[in-house]
Amino acid sequence: MFSVDFRFAEKFLGTTNIENIYGEILQAHRKLHEYNTFESTAGWLDLPRNYDEDTVEEIVNEAQNIRKKCDVFVVIGIGGSYLGARAAIEFLHSNNYNLLENTPKIFFVGNSISSDEFYEIMQICQNSDVCINVISKSGTTTEPAIAFRLFRDFMENKYGKDGARERIYCTTDSDSNLQKLADEMGYKSFSIPKNIGGRYSVLTAVGLLPIAVSGIDIKKILKGALSALNVYSSCDQNLNDCYKYAAIRNLFYRQGKTTEIMVGYHPKMRYFAEWWKQLFGESEGKDGKGIFPASAVFSTDLHSLGQYIQQGPKNLFETVINVASPKKDLKISSSENDADNLNYLSGKTVNFVNQKALEATLLAHTNGGVPNIVLNLDSFSEEDFGHLVYFFEKACAISACVLGVNPFDQPGVENYKNEMFKLLGKPNF
Ligand code: PA5
Repeated sequence: MFSVDFRFAEKFLGTTNIENIYGEILQAHRKLHEYNTFESTAGWLDLPRNYDEDTVEEIVNEAQNIRKKCDVFVVIGIGGSYLGARAAIEFLHSNNYNLLENTPKIFFVGNSISSDEFYEIMQICQNSDVCINVISKSGTTTEPAIAFRLFRDFMENKYGKDGARERIYCTTDSDSNLQKLADEMGYKSFSIPKNIGGRYSVLTAVGLLPIAVSGIDIKKILKGALSALNVYSSCDQNLNDCYKYAAIRNLFYRQGKTTEIMVGYHPKMRYFAEWWKQLFGESEGKDGKGIFPASAVFSTDLHSLGQYIQQGPKNLFETVINVASPKKDLKISSSENDADNLNYLSGKTVNFVNQKALEATLLAHTNGGVPNIVLNLDSFSEEDFGHLVYFFEKACAISACVLGVNPFDQPGVENYKNEMFKLLGKPNF
């Protein structure tokens, strides 16, 4: 079950209301659905309805093989080519996933250029059975390319060329250089649909293969995304909370609220917020416009960022994800001498206290002038994760259109690359 509570946001809209912007939301809807403005990049819109079932079956089967073959699975990719998988694995298992038993450890590399990180993970791989999944739509991104070269060498040294071939998986565009390399070397490959860009690709092989390797039921994620697709196709503002969210955040932006903080109340939601930050940051931040996407995990960050949110400048709003039930809820015991003065909580569960922290923070922050939008989920289930992913993908595309920017490009990212290539002496730069 998924619902959105706008009560702690709507009271900040003042004399404006959603009617003032809903015409623009509908225009954005038409751009996405009717005018085919983004035909070449909006393949994710219908994906939960028309994904290729054979490909999903192949991913499930290959994931099973990988789980049998290895105890360490190295995922090489950056940006949209790793954040969704990491978000899902942490959200649905744990941020301590790699300490769990009977499942391959999963390490994400190639999302930085840190030699220490490469070395450390190679050391871990030394005494383990390893498989690798390199994920790059373009096949040319420098960070994963360097990581792949290093780890390919590592794999060939460890297993020989033939052995490595059985353990290397490529996920890429069918026309990329990486695909050519995969064909030349005989690596198993999965292709990324041409009309789905990096940060919208978690429900393709990009995210689904690593997620399935971790033991998660990817079909249930797709089912959750389909439920979202069905609900958020409606143009009726009373029925479509995704469009309402896009409307309200744009109204806040017009009031000068230029930062949105994604808040979770469990450490295992940290990477979901990282995925969300990339989705919104790269989709909206261009042409001098865009809401800055930030994140926090409460109550942890109430002891750091909380002060700023409560009493700093009022250019913020928060989007809170409230998961009603954890997988396991622990009870607080009673103590004879009550030395820690906690007996007032004895018999209560940890989640009860976490929920009260959430309710209290909602009151404190809204009383302090910070609007809050609350997304309610029943549990950390695959279906809810899929629903949440689609909710934000669609809200992001609609929001960016209302803002007047292209949700699917990221031209600004080229600037650092060009400067770096010049410094590195790359030919033709
Ligand atoms: O959202 C995007 O398109 C980007 O963040 C890409 O995912 C990222 O740059 C990685 O690109 P690639 O998969 O081509 O290596």
